[in-house]
Amino acid sequence: IDTTTAGAFTITARAGQTEFLSGVPSATQGFNQTYLGPVVKVRTGTTVTATVINELNDSLAVHWHGLVIPGDRDGGPHQAIKPGGTWKPRLDIDQPAATVWYHAHTHDTTAPLVYSGLAGVMLIVDGKDNERGLPSDYGIDDLVLVLQDRRFDASGRMVYRPGMMDRMAGFHGDRMLVNGALDPSAAVPRSVVRLRLINGSNARIYNLVFDDRRTMQLIATDSGLLPRPVELERLRLAPGERAEVLVDFSSGKPAMLSSEEYVLSGGGMMAMMGNPPSLSGASAGNNGAAPILAFEPAADLPAKVTTIPAVLDDNPVQQLAPPARSRFLSMDMMVGGPGGMMGGGMMGQMGINGQPFSMERIDQRIARGSVEMWTVRSTMRPHPLHIHGVRFRIVSENGQPPRMENVGWKDTVLVEDEVELLAEFTRPAAADTPFMYHCHILEHEDAGMMGQFVVA
Ligand code: C2O
Ligand code: CU
Ligand code: CU
Repeated sequence: IDTTTAGAFTITARAGQTEFLSGVPSATQGFNQTYLGPVVKVRTGTTVTATVINELNDSLAVHWHGLVIPGDRDGGPHQAIKPGGTWKPRLDIDQPAATVWYHAHTHDTTAPLVYSGLAGVMLIVDGKDNERGLPSDYGIDDLVLVLQDRRFDASGRMVYRPGMMDRMAGFHGDRMLVNGALDPSAAVPRSVVRLRLINGSNARIYNLVFDDRRTMQLIATDSGLLPRPVELERLRLAPGERAEVLVDFSSGKPAMLSSEEYVLSGGGMMAMMGNPPSLSGASAGNNGAAPILAFEPAADLPAKVTTIPAVLDDNPVQQLAPPARSRFLSMDMMVGGPGGMMGGGMMGQMGINGQPFSMERIDQRIARGSVEMWTVRSTMRPHPLHIHGVRFRIVSENGQPPRMENVGWKDTVLVEDEVELLAEFTRPAAADTPFMYHCHILEHEDAGMMGQFVVA
């Protein structure tokens, strides 16, 4: 849906059936379609009216992940739409071009809802991609790719039945869907192609790599363009994160985008919990990587961009003021007390700073306009932290300068051990519609690894 002229769009959540495997319908949900939702294009500097209609039998909150907008438009768990209801937030798009997304964010049920298909992509555009020399022909040399791993039963139906291990590690599938398609392939022109990669999985961390080891030029992270492209052979992408890369297909040779396994380091409890199930099709011939998407260069598609631009965004990198204060977050897998795992067995709650999420408790109060330094630590396994309502920069990762994937503007970051980040809190959020910060492993979020904050 292109809103750049109309300034409005409508998405309707409904239940339906999708044949991932032809002839075998799976029960799914989506926006305007049976699985996932439309790609919505919005232009920076404009106001867009969203109409979100809930035709499901349960309440549904829809969050704009990556939009820097006030709390009362954010679509967090306090803004659930009743069955049959409509929500019409006005979205002031006042941030640089970026690939963002929207997804279900209902209290306690985000994981099953997103898994069932309630997610979609939003592209913030600024009309300057031609000038920059970046591919921007949607669906031709500018591809939106939602990566999701899913589990299927013996008859080929998509299933979500998390066991205890899945609650601990997050629910992993063994088959890949790209934009809802099993065993997908993409025809691309014999030119430089832009891939907008969205990790829409509940829990899986990808280590993306091409089977022929061709390089990718990273041009954008979660919240916008980098100053210049960064060459990578491998791209790590955790749940909730996005990356835009340029890939050169001008040789005409096909290539397979694959994922190497993300291997947990460390022992103890983590070793006991084990690594998540691997993706099917991983082969020794491909360095143990599993195939995700086959690219077939086609001579009959228009080859427009043939060189990688040297400069993407010549705006001077925005400097953040020195932080006014610092905070510490510990992403905890075991929260004590009678409901906690230590007290009540393995089905217990997770939390942040020792407390499971509560709709009733405001965890942080932040002065509007201030810059803060947050130190975030993961316990037992890596957790991708997402913060609503801001863009941030990574200062350090595990005591080192940030890895290449994390040098740009971010709204989600994989915290393997410890991450320090700087964020400027420009948008207001009141106590009745606070912003969230949480683990983007959705089973962890639902188990309580989330907190909320006001900005005033
Ligand atoms: Cu993408 Cu609070 O979520
Ligand atoms: Cu968000
Ligand atoms: Cu987590």
